Amino acid sequence: MARCIAVASGKGGVGRTSLAFNLGVALSLFGEEVVMLDMDLVMANMDVITGLLNPEVTLHDVLVRDKSIEECVYEMNYGIRVVPTGMHFETLKNINTNYISWNKIINEIADYGNIFMLDLPAGIDSNILEALPADTEIILVTNSTMPSVADALKLRILLNEMNLDILGFVLNMWYEDNFLLSPQEIESLLEIPMISIIPYDREMDRALALGRSVVEINNTSPTSNAIMQLAADILGKDYRPVEPDKQSILNRIKKFVGMLPE
Ligand SMILES: Nc1ncnc2c1ncn2[C@@H]1O[C@H](COP(=O)(O)OP(=O)(O)OP(=O)(O)O)[C@@H](O)[C@H]1O
Ligand SMILES: [Mg+2]
Repeated sequence: MARCIAVASGKGGVGRTSLAFNLGVALSLFGEEVVMLDMDLVMANMDVITGLLNPEVTLHDVLVRDKSIEECVYEMNYGIRVVPTGMHFETLKNINTNYISWNKIINEIADYGNIFMLDLPAGIDSNILEALPADTEIILVTNSTMPSVADALKLRILLNEMNLDILGFVLNMWYEDNFLLSPQEIESLLEIPMISIIPYDREMDRALALGRSVVEINNTSPTSNAIMQLAADILGKDYRPVEPDKQSILNRIKKFVGMLPE
């Protein structure tokens, strides 16, 4: 039975798609078969973030052009697969985004993976939450700003009312600042466990520009280690952070200046 993990947030722009993608790559590094689905039919950008540019067939084609769902499952780096949504304004006029059966879509591509990573649209649209497959585990993403935490709280309350399963929240783009809410303050406001703190890291945008994952381009960074640790925790596996190899760099310098024999 496949696991469905949905990444959600009240406020937009907090890093849901980046987290879904990087966590997907991290899970695949632990040997999982990951399929990423973009559930934002209006402002989809999973294809941009995963580096999957101009896919020939997208979910929009499946929904209105009689294409089969198998045709829009794309194999990416590290064995993750991506189902892009597409960006066709014309298509949006012909589909009612409230009546998409994600259950049916995921069932049809069940053979492609054992973890389905769902990138939800921002906001508190109960229609889309109702359409989630049963037993979907939800990760809430927030930043440390008041508006993003306030929106996360609204969404957390709605998820509870709908009896949906929340794994916890990820504090993304974190940095120390007296004017921002602290991790402890956010945890006590949201009343759900904080399952990861991901630092504010410009590598995220560098990775995005390269169409790659941060866990792939810089595996010793705190960001990469945080995402790998989260993947390990989700799987109930152990993970030892990858540290930069400072000693061998120092040894090379020492050899160079004659402090160590060649
Ligand atoms: N930890 C981070 N540190 C710095 N920048 C980040 C971090 N996480 C994401 N970003 C950057 O923030 C921007 C928004 O990220 P992303 O598109 O993943 O957010 P989103 O919540 O999916 O947005 P939307 O609501 O528009 O779908 C991107 O440029 C991304 O590279
Ligand atoms: Mg997004």
